[in-house]
Amino acid sequence: QTVYLRDYTPPPYLVDHVTLEVALHPTATRVRSTIRFRRNPATGPGHPLRLDGEELTLIAAQVDGVDINAEPDDLGLSIPSHLLPDTPFVWEAEVEINPQANTTLDGLYMSNGMYSTQCEAEGFRKITFYPDRPDVMAPFKVRVTSDLPVMLSNGNPVASGPGWAEWEDPHPKPSYLFALVAGDLQPTRDTFSTMEGRHVDLGIWVRAGDSDKTAYAMDALKRSMLWDEAVYGRAYDLDVFNIVAVDDFNMGAMENKGLNIFNSRCVLASPATATDADYASIERIIAHEYFHNWTGNRITCRDWFQLSLKEGLTVFRDQQFMGDMRSHAVKRIGDVLSLRARQFREDAGPLAHAVRPEAYAEINNFYTATIYEKGAEVIRMLRLLVGPDAYAAALDLYFSRHDGQACTIDDWLSVFSDATGRDLSQFKRWYGQAGTPHISVTEDWVPGADAAAPGGVTITDTTTSNAEAPAGMGGTYTLTLRQDTPATPGQPLKEPLVIPVALGLIGPDGTDLLPTVVLELTGPEQVFRFGNLPARPVPSILRDFSAPVILSRDTTDAERALLLAHDTDPVTRWEAGRDLARAGLERMILNGAGPDAGYIDALGKMLRDATLDPAFRALTLGLPSQDDMAQGLFTAGHTPDPDAIHRATQGLRRAIATVLHDDLAQVYDGMSTPGAYDPGAVPAGKRALRLGALAHLTRLDDGARARALFTSADNMTEAMGAWTALLTVGLGVEETQRFYTRWQAERLVIDKWFAAQVACAAPDRAVAVATDLSQHADFNWKNPNRFRAVFGALSGNAAGFHQASGAGYALLADWLIQLDAANPQTAARMSSAFETWRRYDPARRAAMTAALERMLAHPGLSRDMTEMVSRMRG
Ligand code: ARG
Ligand code: ZN
Repeated sequence: QTVYLRDYTPPPYLVDHVTLEVALHPTATRVRSTIRFRRNPATGPGHPLRLDGEELTLIAAQVDGVDINAEPDDLGLSIPSHLLPDTPFVWEAEVEINPQANTTLDGLYMSNGMYSTQCEAEGFRKITFYPDRPDVMAPFKVRVTSDLPVMLSNGNPVASGPGWAEWEDPHPKPSYLFALVAGDLQPTRDTFSTMEGRHVDLGIWVRAGDSDKTAYAMDALKRSMLWDEAVYGRAYDLDVFNIVAVDDFNMGAMENKGLNIFNSRCVLASPATATDADYASIERIIAHEYFHNWTGNRITCRDWFQLSLKEGLTVFRDQQFMGDMRSHAVKRIGDVLSLRARQFREDAGPLAHAVRPEAYAEINNFYTATIYEKGAEVIRMLRLLVGPDAYAAALDLYFSRHDGQACTIDDWLSVFSDATGRDLSQFKRWYGQAGTPHISVTEDWVPGADAAAPGGVTITDTTTSNAEAPAGMGGTYTLTLRQDTPATPGQPLKEPLVIPVALGLIGPDGTDLLPTVVLELTGPEQVFRFGNLPARPVPSILRDFSAPVILSRDTTDAERALLLAHDTDPVTRWEAGRDLARAGLERMILNGAGPDAGYIDALGKMLRDATLDPAFRALTLGLPSQDDMAQGLFTAGHTPDPDAIHRATQGLRRAIATVLHDDLAQVYDGMSTPGAYDPGAVPAGKRALRLGALAHLTRLDDGARARALFTSADNMTEAMGAWTALLTVGLGVEETQRFYTRWQAERLVIDKWFAAQVACAAPDRAVAVATDLSQHADFNWKNPNRFRAVFGALSGNAAGFHQASGAGYALLADWLIQLDAANPQTAARMSSAFETWRRYDPARRAAMTAALERMLAHPGLSRDMTEMVSRMRG
């Protein structure tokens, strides 16, 4: 049942209005729908009315009040055209559903005594019969009855009484944005006045006992609302905005119109229970879901192939917001790290797909790093190419031209070509072509006969001009950029992309010779000439990570050290340190070399440099992840050995701790943040640097500092930092027990307790630790957060998951099979742990593919898992 983009046809029937009456009952909820349909004048006559519907018991159906004998199949029902009037008509149906039995967390389900919905992408069809596709938009009116005190739905509240509530959403919306919540929930209330003078009541609804954890999310919400007005000119458009926290949730959160539903983990925070990273993630996700109100809800997607239209853009917007709220440099480096860890990995393996895919079996499998994060990178490149003013003008045009519509990525690009006059036909390939482009760099230097003349550096793109650099005036540096995108599944041949390469040139003494310019690489190979230079420069390439590409250049360690010390762009500066670390680690892994003294020396300089933002210093202190190293080695033609990578990483850490001991100790003492806990970026950056230092010091002080901090910490960031520093070096047995006893009643903290033990376990212990924890009384495999805590941490423990015995693969496969029967979405998402199987040696490959075969052969495997596993097997 593959769906293809090329098969898209417009809906033959449009919806003018939907009324739902939902009588909630744990096992027998009744949903009465009254839907005003009319034939779509654009599609012509003769089409049957197709209504999607799954797991519904149809009680009765009428067209214009006359009973109709509709016979649903597994996927819905069809009414032949000749039974329907040519004029608008009313469809009425009553169905029964069982929210208690719904363990998929898709559609209407019960969780901890409350009712909640998740309709994106195709959950509404589990609530009633409907054309469940995003290009059918309608205003909704909802009446809920229930014996629970709080009943919420989309839009504005219109009336309520004991046991019932009515909501009305005047903005036409697709069914995937429908939401309904009922429960014994406590509100945290606030208000916001929009720039258009609208008074908005804000509410965050949580279970009793969680009200002390809503303040930060509320603050983030108000800042998001203000930011979208100030930066994008977008105001909120309803009288209420509600957010609900739900414990059992497949994803992070959902942007339902006027009623965002959040995984508790992505909204609840208190200093004692949430880390700095949790606070940042809450701020980002609150903003993300709020920003969807315009990029997603007011302007939605025509079909699910266009998913990145809303997700790529909304991720880009949340990245901009976070940069404005915190530090642009630190945010960008964090984004680059996660892009490489998740999206580059995806793009390099069997699950690679385009930002706009062409086919899917189960759309939920395409809520990926490629659709989200690469989609955001494509928009970032577009903005860089057209400039911020043209970007703003194009966005204004997008909002005015397409408000209220279900659009395509072509519509999006047309807005940019219309607003800027730029031909984007080649740029568009970013949406259709999968795989991470590789850019290779070669250089040439011709010293000048004379000193450089005043007037600065000259730049020539030799593809568009053959002007020679004027002779006798400084030296000429030539940069040849070559692009090449490797084949991906179904796409053997790739065409050249438009790649903005932001570049600066640095002199041998560290001075800036050329401030940032953006080169446009459009051909397979292009030569850029820089004339009138006083000395041979060191290039700083891909500043601010101007394109999602893999750059290769034969850079010497001396050049990297120069960039690390002097580059004015924080991203390439950080990258230089990372490249030094990577090169040293590769020599340790492949040649048995010792730790790189030059790298450690450079690191020491960064640590001591008090002019640098502590958060930035914390990032430079981080090493490439073991999975990153494996991917890099594989790309370079080696077979990565997870154990060797682990040993090298440990060896390098030990050397850093020993050589830089005094600097680390000084940082640890100097970066304390006395006073009440503040989740802001500045103190959080200090804590990150301090805890980074602590992780190293714990190798040498037998855990003394970490134990002391664990005992004295008044916030979760330091408590976790101290405890995990101990766990990582094989200490902390007693702290593990104390942590559990202290936080037993806080489920989000207990998730951390499960996860950290697996994540920090030694390679030969990780599988045993995960197995033991899966038998713990608090392990609830049906709760996605808890399942992910144990098994997500297992697949993230590279050397542990990839144990040569294959035990990690077998354990994860067993549990994915079990989870799939209850919750296919989460099982399928987590199956991507196996996407890297081609990297490894024959024995590991065999064990990983055996696990894939075993899952695929399991009787009754879901469509979600079947698609994922088949694609991975290739
Ligand atoms: N649109 C949501 C977000 O980006 C994600 C919902 C995905 N849900 C799913 N079942 N695939 O915030
Ligand atoms: Zn989103």
